[in-house]
This record gives sequence, structure tokens and C-alpha cells, in this order.
Amino acid sequence: MISTKEHDSKIKRVIISQEEIAQAIKKAGEQISKEYDGKPLLLVSILKGAFVFMSDLCRAITIPLEIDFMSASSYGAGTVSSGKVRIDFDLKHDISNYHVIIVEDIIDTGRTLKEIVYTLSNRNPLSLKIVTLLDKPDRRVVEFEADMALFTIPDLFVIGYGLDLNEYYRNLPYVAEYDA
Ligand code: IMP
Ligand code: MG
Repeated sequence: MISTKEHDSKIKRVIISQEEIAQAIKKAGEQISKEYDGKPLLLVSILKGAFVFMSDLCRAITIPLEIDFMSASSYGAGTVSSGKVRIDFDLKHDISNYHVIIVEDIIDTGRTLKEIVYTLSNRNPLSLKIVTLLDKPDRRVVEFEADMALFTIPDLFVIGYGLDLNEYYRNLPYVAEYDA
């Protein structure tokens, strides 16, 4: 376990404030509510990092929707992802009758989402789109674009609002730079 003092000393600076996040999510929720009205909508959150974003985004959407979760991880701990993606926990829904929006915390190399999109596309959803809170395009190693990215950030390791460093910091209400 980490001490509170050490924990706090690694929070370098706030990159995106709670207010900025709330504002961007409100806008995204309105847009999705318009675009998907009258369609069977399933939000798929990628655990664990996207659970906070999912929680706020689903409440910013005003049309009927269902939610589901899946978990995928790139092997290994630390601040650099290794390139191998493993699906640890799968959806409960048969997605063939849904318009699916994948709700992700961050697109870094793009490997995780590319793998997930490949897997879910093969299950023939009515449509499939990706919404990500954060996009780090400078780090991309596979070609991949989100349909909606709320914030584009430079190549920094960030924590908070669901994003972790060795499982800590997910509970920060803002996105901060980690002081390595
Ligand atoms: P990708 O497959 O490299 O795009 O990896 C995406 C996953 O790596 C995200 O879902 C996060 O779990 C993790 N990740 C990438 N960049 C960061 C970061 O800056 N902070 C925390 N986690 C990150
Ligand atoms: Mg993640």
C-alpha cells in the first residue's frame, strides 16, 4: 500500500478539470441522444478505466439505453503498454440487435480498441462506434480513430477519472499528469 503523502506527491498537475470534463460529457450526451433516438442503444464500457466516464456519460444521455461491460488488458504493469491484448471478461448482451457505442477511457497505441472492435464487429451489431474520453494520437502504433474523442492530449502519462497507475488514482475527479 502507498502512503497518502507519496500518492499525492505524484500528482504533477491537473490537465483536464472536473468542470471541463462535465461540460464535454454534457455535449457528447446531447449529441448521442439526438443521433440514436428511436434506435436500440447499447453502451459498452471497457473496464476498468472507463467505468467513471461510462457512469457520467450514460447519465448525460436522455434516450432509452442499455449498458454492458467487458474487460481487456494489455499485458504487464507500468506506464508503457506491451502490445498484447487479452479479453478477460466478455459482454452479457447478444449485440446483433443493438447499435453499439464503445465507451473507452483513452486511446494510446490503439491496440486494445483495435482488437475489441475486431471482436465486436464479428458479432454483427447494427452499428458500432467508439467514444473515448481521451486520445493520445502521438502514441499510435496501429491505425485507429475514435468516432468521438472528448479531449486530445499530448504524449503524457495521465491519471484520474478512471485512469490508473498500478491501480491507484482512479478516484481522482480530474485528469492529471503523473509525475514519474
Ligand atoms: P492502447 O492499447 O495502447 O491504446 O492502450 C489503451 C489502454 O492503456 C487504456 O485503456 C489504458 O488502460 C492504458 N493507458 C494508456 N495510456 C494511459 C495513460 O496515460 N494513463 C493511464 N492508462 C493509460
Ligand atoms: Mg483501459
